Amino acid sequence: MASTILHMLEEEHRTLGRVLRLMRRQLDRLARDGDADFEMLGEIAHYIRNYPDLFHHPKEDLVFRRLRLRDAGAAAVVERLLEEHRHVAGMTDDLSRLIDEARVQPGRRPALQAAAEAYIDFQQRHMECENTDALPRAQAALLPGDWEEIAGLVEGEEDPLMSKAGLGQYSRLRDRIFAGH
Ligand SMILES: [Fe+2]
Ligand SMILES: [Fe+2]
Repeated sequence: MASTILHMLEEEHRTLGRVLRLMRRQLDRLARDGDADFEMLGEIAHYIRNYPDLFHHPKEDLVFRRLRLRDAGAAAVVERLLEEHRHVAGMTDDLSRLIDEARVQPGRRPALQAAAEAYIDFQQRHMECENTDALPRAQAALLPGDWEEIAGLVEGEEDPLMSKAGLGQYSRLRDRIFAGH
């Protein structure tokens, strides 16, 4: 049971990592040419708001709250990650608004560049902390019954970038991610 939940979280991190790299390439293009694929950037923000923000972090919250009970030494990292989870959806909303503005107002593009770079750095640092600290601690400290309880509480929503059911949605984003450019 532990491996099912952990595997799901790690898989979602890999997908989000790919999405963030695609965003970074659009920002490189914006810096170089003063223009980018704003539709793609908008699709990326929409995806993050509608899957990782809504379903990935809440699954982690269940794991991290249980980790805090089982491993007192994990309290600081758990507090940090839970706090970041409370803010991340608002950050994605702000980014989404800025993408919409920059699409029609070239004067807003430097602001988007700076905010999106900071957003990517934040997301990558957050995932790195989970991958190298909180999730390995959870794997070591949680009991089989903890994982069973968590599995019972996890919502069954599938990642629309990875599921067959979501094939129609985010199709451009999926094509670009799996085409590797
Ligand atoms: Fe997280
Ligand atoms: Fe995560």
